[in-house]
Amino acid sequence: MIDIGIIGFGYWGPNVARNFNGLPGANITCICDRDAKRLKMATAAFPGLKTCSDPMELIGDDGIGAVAIVTPVSTHFDLAKAALERGKHVFVEKPLTSSVRQAEDLIDLARRNGLIIMVDHTFLFTGAVQKIKELLDAGELGDLFFYDSVRVNLGLYQHDVNVIWDLAPHDFSIMSHVVPKEPVAVTALGTEHFGRGKEDVAFIAAHFDNGFIAHFHCNWLSPVKVRRTLISGNRKMLVWDDLASDEKIKIYDRGVDVRNDRGIHELLVSYRSGDMHAPRISNVEALRTEASYFLDCIEKNQTPFNDGEAGLKVVRMLEAADRSLKLDGKKIRL
Ligand SMILES: NC(=O)c1ccc[n+]([C@@H]2O[C@H](COP(=O)([O-])OP(=O)(O)OC[C@H]3O[C@@H](n4cnc5c(N)ncnc54)[C@H](O)[C@@H]3O)[C@@H](O)[C@H]2O)c1
Repeated sequence: MIDIGIIGFGYWGPNVARNFNGLPGANITCICDRDAKRLKMATAAFPGLKTCSDPMELIGDDGIGAVAIVTPVSTHFDLAKAALERGKHVFVEKPLTSSVRQAEDLIDLARRNGLIIMVDHTFLFTGAVQKIKELLDAGELGDLFFYDSVRVNLGLYQHDVNVIWDLAPHDFSIMSHVVPKEPVAVTALGTEHFGRGKEDVAFIAAHFDNGFIAHFHCNWLSPVKVRRTLISGNRKMLVWDDLASDEKIKIYDRGVDVRNDRGIHELLVSYRSGDMHAPRISNVEALRTEASYFLDCIEKNQTPFNDGEAGLKVVRMLEAADRSLKLDGKKIRL
């Protein structure tokens, strides 16, 4: 049984608390938020639970073995560092930190203290992403052509980051997890509309050295909510609509056959149009699976696949995308 403290009870914190609560092996003993109104809500949701407004009080509690950090991105580094220094395992929201340097420091600190960092890349625990990884690992789509994700809506504006740091962590973490190659460079274009100096629309590309390319449209200003990913290969093509109530993933037995037996000027292109099938996917709540995996990793002293290194990879791409955007789309090598 491990005692867990949760810092941040805003929009996402209650989900993290609900999912850790009731897991065999976990006991939430304290919730911290600097906002008194949020603490009142925490008390209403978990009567009798200890609350505090100073994260250092929670981190300083020797009974607490692990801390979940569910506060804005700009606070992740300081809180995670303090928790690791006090010997706590850390479950930290995406993205791990605001810079590569900070992420490297946390990884180093965790390693030296023999502690686990898990980054909450929630989508990796969804049935959809688990299925996509299974299909790509098995080479079902053949050689990959492109990956294209649209993640747009009239979004919750984050105060401390632009849309890249808010939404692209999902795409970068999913792509890193399912595509068996590493990108070599990133480009991004984007703009902002309210004088905050924080872009609200971004178009990002991740470049690979084998012709494969990934593109992400992240946007807080779309009238409709879209969460759709296309992954295309020379054998099959896949569409993942995360908002669909069923058949979230559709696999199309479609492709392009190119023959060139009489020289370049007589390239023969034919399209193959076969059946579509929608595999069954698990609908267990992703955050529940992830919370349980965190406890398992602690108990077995095992490095999670969504550890600090995985979080660092995402932060490296975010930093490159942000830099490219500021330089009008310049290609930034990773
Ligand atoms: N994994 C996901 O799918 C997912 C979804 C949404 C948000 N998030 C992440 O969760 C984090 C929080 O996002 P949110 O939307 O809940 O933000 P939010 O602003 O709604 O909530 C943050 C809460 O943290 C509190 N807080 C801020 N600084 C604090 C500090 N130093 N000490 C104590 N409390 C503090 C605030 O008072 C607020 O209640 C972000 O990192 C975000 O990227 C992840």
